[in-house]
Amino acid sequence: MSRQLHLNLFLHDTGHHEASWRLPESDPHANLSLAAHQHLARVAEDAKFDSVFLADSPVLWSDPGRRPSGKLEPTLLLAALAAGTSRIGLIATASTSYNEPYNLARRFASLDHLSGGRAGWNIVTTAGADAARNFGLDDQPLHRTRYERADEFLEVATKLWDSWADDAVVADKESGIHARGDRVRTIDHRGAFFRVDGPLNLPRSPQAHPLLVQAGSSEDGKEFAAKWAEAVFTAQPTLAESQAFYADLKRRAAAAGRDPDHVVILPGIVPVIGDTEAEARELDAELERLIAPQYAVATLAHTLRVDPERLALDEPLPDDLPPEEEIEGAKSRRTLIVDWARRDNLTVRQLIGRLGGGRGHRTFTGTPVQVADTIQHYFSHGAADGFNIMPAVLPSGLHAFAERVVPILQERGLFRADYEGATLREHYGLPRPASTVHSVLEGAAR
Ligand SMILES: Cc1cc2nc3c(=O)[nH]c(=O)nc-3n(C[C@H](O)[C@H](O)[C@H](O)COP(=O)(O)O)c2cc1C
Repeated sequence: MSRQLHLNLFLHDTGHHEASWRLPESDPHANLSLAAHQHLARVAEDAKFDSVFLADSPVLWSDPGRRPSGKLEPTLLLAALAAGTSRIGLIATASTSYNEPYNLARRFASLDHLSGGRAGWNIVTTAGADAARNFGLDDQPLHRTRYERADEFLEVATKLWDSWADDAVVADKESGIHARGDRVRTIDHRGAFFRVDGPLNLPRSPQAHPLLVQAGSSEDGKEFAAKWAEAVFTAQPTLAESQAFYADLKRRAAAAGRDPDHVVILPGIVPVIGDTEAEARELDAELERLIAPQYAVATLAHTLRVDPERLALDEPLPDDLPPEEEIEGAKSRRTLIVDWARRDNLTVRQLIGRLGGGRGHRTFTGTPVQVADTIQHYFSHGAADGFNIMPAVLPSGLHAFAERVVPILQERGLFRADYEGATLREHYGLPRPASTVHSVLEGAAR
């Protein structure tokens, strides 16, 4: 079969546009509603999306005035969605900076068991001092240190997931043995950040490891992705930048000794869909009118590490912004935004208009055929293995995509007409990690 597209739905209450909650159609309490999330997950599943995804941070993420900011804990929410769906993958974000590996390894193994092999983990290192201050720290650990911790975190988590052999549980009523002790082992990890004995208190889950997803784009972020990530979310505003990122990450994965096809690259796209181009542009313009600039300017100033007073709405960005090297938060996002503003000579007002749609992701306004054409173009020109679909408005933007764009992609033979596999790994064409307990014990016996 020809190479197939992968589609992930990035769930975000009323939509990715920051003003989406103000539209007449929107439920401003959707962020806390199980029914609203269930609806989105089911529509995505009917359209045969590979997965749904929830972003997260252990901090109040935006000014509570700006948009619905209350965030349900993602693995809990996905456990509830597991009960209301049967095929679609369920990807939750969790931080390696503000969790312990034992807790998280257990949580994702639990989600994988409960969902029948549909769990994925978006691994983040969490930018920002405000999150650090929720965990007894005065400031965030250095960017480099956060990635070093993330690396050891993954080492521990994967050892824990491998601490039970696939054949450990025999549930033998006759002999009275439930699981074979020689097929469960401690991990005895001793490292710079963690000391963990193991084993995990759960048998190996259907996927063995949840799908490992990552989204950092700095040097350290890309090195981490090349080593660990099986799917990569990324914000790339143009085709050329997407192609450069794609080639770079595939090369790094090969250099790390991995099969580049086992790193699925999913740039974000914010589709704003209309029956005609004019209708799509009208929705775009309405959303832009509804942006409250005071909040958007404050967020921009925070990302760029400048005083908000210095960002005049109808002026370009100041020339003397702190360089990327001085940013300890999200380095790559800062650079993307600054490059964009300078290249297109945008005023602050124009810049926040664009960021309102996609926060740096590619916004695409057009008809269903135009959206499908763009996706196909990226897919067949070395820029993407699929897309992270981020509708500007939910649920209507998902309905439009599922009902109008997906059938075009299916007709063109680019996207599955039905699920072929059972697990999230199978949807993405990724292998299940082999059990390692057996070989280690045999090695020890020799
Ligand atoms: C689609 C997408 C989703 C992301 N979701 C989260 C998230 O849920 N939580 C988070 O802390 N960071 C999230 N990030 C940010 C990245 O993890 C990372 O911090 C950011 O891209 C900056 O990368 P860098 O620190 O390597 O420069 C996301 C990024 C992208 C592109």
